[in-house]
Amino acid sequence: MSIMALKRTKIVDIFNPELIGEKVCVKGWVRTRRGNKNVQFVALNDGSTIKNIQIVFDLAKFSEDELKPITTGASLHVEGELVASQGKGQTCEIQAETIEIYGTADPQTYPLQKKGHTLEFLREIAHLRPRTNTFGAVLRIRHNLAFAIHKFFNERGFFYLNTPLITASDCEGAGAMFQVTTLDLNNLPKTEDGTIDYAQDFFGKQTSLTVSGQLEGELGATALGAIYTFGPTFRAENSNTPRHLAEFWMIEPEVAFNDITDNMDLAEEFIKYCIVYALENCKDDIEFLAQMYDKNLVERLEFVLHNQFMRLPYTEAIKILEASDKKFEFPVSWGIDLQSEHERYLVEEHFKKPVILTDYPKEIKAFYMKLNEDGKTVRAMDVLFPQIGEIIGGSEREADYDKLLARIEELHIPMKDMWWYLDTRRFGTVPHSGFGLGFERLVLFVTGMTNIRDVIPFPRTPKNAEF
Ligand code: 4AD
Ligand code: MG
Repeated sequence: MSIMALKRTKIVDIFNPELIGEKVCVKGWVRTRRGNKNVQFVALNDGSTIKNIQIVFDLAKFSEDELKPITTGASLHVEGELVASQGKGQTCEIQAETIEIYGTADPQTYPLQKKGHTLEFLREIAHLRPRTNTFGAVLRIRHNLAFAIHKFFNERGFFYLNTPLITASDCEGAGAMFQVTTLDLNNLPKTEDGTIDYAQDFFGKQTSLTVSGQLEGELGATALGAIYTFGPTFRAENSNTPRHLAEFWMIEPEVAFNDITDNMDLAEEFIKYCIVYALENCKDDIEFLAQMYDKNLVERLEFVLHNQFMRLPYTEAIKILEASDKKFEFPVSWGIDLQSEHERYLVEEHFKKPVILTDYPKEIKAFYMKLNEDGKTVRAMDVLFPQIGEIIGGSEREADYDKLLARIEELHIPMKDMWWYLDTRRFGTVPHSGFGLGFERLVLFVTGMTNIRDVIPFPRTPKNAEF
């Protein structure tokens, strides 16, 4: 039988009682085929939903030979009648009338056969893993969260500002930057004193991939009032943990006239909005992941929604950690940078809800944060989440020109790189605040996955840039 010219219906739209009895056309990839001598069943998925549509092949109409190439992974075009299904687990199915096989997938070599694969194995075939239920679900949730983020800011009058990926300044001052150059690494031009002559490099100076869009974000906020960035961010830290990527996506709102309390309110409202959006728009995918990986997922998401985040200063948190009986790998004392074990103790064991820590020692935070009256702490805020640890880092910014300059000099940050940033404080300076949300850490939390490599399509980590 030949193919009719029916318009394709996406599988997400096919489970519609009004279509029962209609001729429909679907296209997708075969998940499984099973059956007997009289009838064969194919589960077809097209990525639009976690659900498969069942295609029923009556062997009175199709020969064994015709069906032979229909193996897991093959791509198909099917037309037939949508009928109510007798089988359990689905409301309707398609009685195949005509088929076209776009491409076969040799069962001997196609790596995604029926059986469940480990997440570790799937990382080695990241080019194919989007075809699994798990990664389909994660990637659809990731998309929905990205959409929710733009929606949240747009509804509140924030402007999306695109900040550069190539930069000559180190925002976080951590020195963990990937250099960008067109110089010949085997034959570097040198100046008279023997150092590399960056005047001959593409930009005429030394440049790197950005670690944050914040500094340019501040330029936008002190002009447009409220902006956000949402883009890739690069960190050349050799951190092999389930929460670090060398290339990740960050959302950075920056708001003129906001103080640290406004900033905390914005962060809390923002995260809760994203979680509500995912719960409302990704129900099937979240349910699937909950069933497969984490029975308490929905409960944990709702728990975050229904609790006010605990807010307290770093100094108070240190006292709580010092007073606890827990044996920490890294000893606790005022001035330390908190480790994941400390953050998770506070969130998961002590307060049992998300925590916003503020007023960190200035030594462990970036140069741009507003100095408190005590002269020792800065108006920083980190949002700490169960399972994840730090999900947001932000602060009220130092708006005073002299104080900011003093801090830049104290830290020996080259002034020549910072003149444009300092101009915001020279001309019409205002109090302002902002923060950065690690997108993959949010996706981790919402999907219940435990390794950050499994919530970005093609992870970049130390010694890994495949695909
Ligand atoms: O705390 P961070 O370093 O803060 C900044 O970059 C500020 N400029 C943000 C701002 O105030 N505009 O990073 C912000 C967030 C972290 O809380 C974390 O969620 C995420 O970015 N993050 C990473 N995510 C994945 N892999 C990494 N290597 C990350 N480093 C930071
Ligand atoms: Mg941080």
